[in-house]
Amino acid sequence: MPKPPPNPPSSEITPEAVYADRRRFLKNAALFAATAAGAGAGLVWLTGGLKPGSRATPRAGEPTRTGARARGPYDTGEPQTPFEAVTTYNNFYEFGSNKDDPSRLSGAFRTRPWTVVVEGEVRRPQTFDVDALLAAFPAQDRIYRMRCVEAWSMVIPWRGFPLGDLLRRAEPTSNARYVAFTSILDPKEMPGQRRGYLEWPYVEGLRLDEALHPLTILASGLYGRPLPNQNGAPLRLVVPWKYGFKGIKSIVRIALTREQPPTTWNVAGPDEYGFYANVNPAVDHPRWSQATERRIGEVARRPTLPFNGYADQVAGLYAGMDLARYF
Ligand code: MTE
Repeated sequence: MPKPPPNPPSSEITPEAVYADRRRFLKNAALFAATAAGAGAGLVWLTGGLKPGSRATPRAGEPTRTGARARGPYDTGEPQTPFEAVTTYNNFYEFGSNKDDPSRLSGAFRTRPWTVVVEGEVRRPQTFDVDALLAAFPAQDRIYRMRCVEAWSMVIPWRGFPLGDLLRRAEPTSNARYVAFTSILDPKEMPGQRRGYLEWPYVEGLRLDEALHPLTILASGLYGRPLPNQNGAPLRLVVPWKYGFKGIKSIVRIALTREQPPTTWNVAGPDEYGFYANVNPAVDHPRWSQATERRIGEVARRPTLPFNGYADQVAGLYAGMDLARYF
């Protein structure tokens, strides 16, 4: 995406990197239905047979396309981005900076055994085996929009549990104001960590009230299946009103802190990526507009919504804040 020092190639922002590899270019062209000739057929494939604008999820009470379940209160009814696109067009710089690197290079990455430490300003610090953690906090399905800071978006059916449930279990002290997240550091298994384009491990953070918001989940699956490695197995953060880079993958540590923690992209490019990173069509990225986005699988751009369409639920968290300053 972005421009950390030195600038990594990105198939989105730096198309030369894609054109350099004809096979990859053709694949991405199909994925985006980017060519005029391919657009019609591509769209049908991308939407799994659904026409753009048709509902992928039924109204409450109706069976879904897959017969899985009815739509819940947190779900968008917009057509879901096909599994194929969700799992092959990824940002996971630990495995490389091209969109297809994570799916090509993360297959052998081992996500068991895996421990997640919850510590810092809590009365009950704890180290969890990830399977025990997942057993302790029953999974829910959530169909969320995902808006990347690079101005593309998807609709993803996640499976996960509210982060707040875990944080409350740990009993934050009165000093806790932020939550700091850390991804795994494993340069042997993660080729991107042997390159210096970002500081490792990847870190992220939220204000405590953001972390406790019911929309904020720790996801362990998508499309009703275990989370693929390229999407951040075994456990990743999903905060649907923020740019996708806040959704830190393959988490090993969650620490409650007094001070605002450093975050990877903010450290790499403080003028380009803020701590808050709330989706905001009114505040452009220095190198491109955030007013519109390209929903993967669609040809025309669509307007980007404040807080990614979740303003009713979350705008109150930022009452009185200058969102251009705290971007
Ligand atoms: N987490 C880690 N550890 N490393 C990363 O490079 N990329 C982020 C975020 N989480 C990233 C990460 C970015 S830029 C985005 S847009 C989302 O993951 C992409 O999630 P997806 O590949 O599941 O769509």
